[in-house]
Amino acid sequence: GSPFLAYRGNDLHLEGVSLKALAQTHGTPLYVYSRQAMLAALAPYQKALQGRPHLVCYAVKANSNLAVLQTFAEAGCGFDIVSGGELARVLAAGGDPAKVVFSGVGKTRAEMKQVLEAGVRCFNVESTAELEVLSQVASGLGRTAQVSLRVNPDVDAGTHPYISTGLKGNKFGVAHELALATYRRAASLPGIAVTGIDCHIGSQITEVSPYLDALDRVLDLVEAIEAAGVPIHHLDLGGGLGITYTDETPPGADVLIGQLLARIDARGHGHRELLFEPGRSLVGNAGVLLTEVMYLKPGEHKNFCVVDAAMNDLARPALYEAWMAIVNTQVREGDAPVWDVVGPVCESGDWLGRDRALAVQPGDVLAVLSAGAYGMTMASNYNTRGRAAELMVDGEQVWVVREREAVNDLFRLERRLPR
Ligand code: LLP
Repeated sequence: GSPFLAYRGNDLHLEGVSLKALAQTHGTPLYVYSRQAMLAALAPYQKALQGRPHLVCYAVKANSNLAVLQTFAEAGCGFDIVSGGELARVLAAGGDPAKVVFSGVGKTRAEMKQVLEAGVRCFNVESTAELEVLSQVASGLGRTAQVSLRVNPDVDAGTHPYISTGLKGNKFGVAHELALATYRRAASLPGIAVTGIDCHIGSQITEVSPYLDALDRVLDLVEAIEAAGVPIHHLDLGGGLGITYTDETPPGADVLIGQLLARIDARGHGHRELLFEPGRSLVGNAGVLLTEVMYLKPGEHKNFCVVDAAMNDLARPALYEAWMAIVNTQVREGDAPVWDVVGPVCESGDWLGRDRALAVQPGDVLAVLSAGAYGMTMASNYNTRGRAAELMVDGEQVWVVREREAVNDLFRLERRLPR
């Protein structure tokens, strides 16, 4: 949970604002983010890294709203991007390109060019083939690409298979055994300057040990690579720290980083600059998705609570069977029957929560909690549903940071056949 989310009287508040009142004013489905909760989530990262050269690169994919990016840019963060589109957002939000790292297995030439011209800090390169293309693109522009290789440390992050990325069978990164040879190749290529090493082992990780295992493997590589005459300036340990959706007990960022620093120092690597790429742990618990109860459909086998948000607004339950808390934004006394909370989309997979005990009436506004990460960024227009509006609150203040999408927006780029 978040200390910024609490009932006052009968009403659930995010910071100083009643969520039910926001739903009445702005309509539903509605994403609402707490600025203070985001900054509070960033603080332990910054505090643990204080006094060391470091850069916290917020992973834009978790929540790419311009106001969210602006909040992190103003707090001194860099950004981890995975597309030219995300770079454009970072720049539009006032982010500093010199603090941007560019990750992803499928960077296009056009993206490489765009990113080089913007002057981003580093490419996290994921294969030899990509390295060769980047060398051509950079040389062609008369520029030098700063490069980290993303190595695959082959550790099990103990998370959902779809969001685990550091195992051999994953498409990500350069295999541990090939890393040294790939660094040698990188050092010999025109337009490439080796600057660091990178790994990211998965997401929603709730223990420190997989990070320490990955760190040890990365440091082994750093030692071998430097012994081969290629200096490594920074270590990028990726993102992945989990949050509490239900009963998970992930370490705090300060605890995680404290343990990583101890290991780094013990192995004599304390002088290196450290980069992290957190996404979910900075925004996940700072956001809620508000949805209105439309119909109650009690049945013989199941009770359905039909709400106006659906899998197109929040894909995580349908896609990963993710459990996200659902609460009523107003306290209701009395019976709390067990409901499946489902949306209006025409698929059985369209549910937000299953078997939830809720005291609820039609017209009530429910809040899906921990929806600040991978909520809106994964939203679609399935069933020709416009995407939700987004608000940011700060104390008692409320800003509309994205308007609700109108139906006309949805087929604006489409054309009828000429007749
Ligand atoms: N760096 C890289 C290279 C990544 O691929 C990711 C996330 C991150 C950083 C940020 O990871 P985080 O700190 O947020 O765990 N849609 C899924 C999560 C996908 C994560 C993809 N990569 C979900 O809703 O659970």
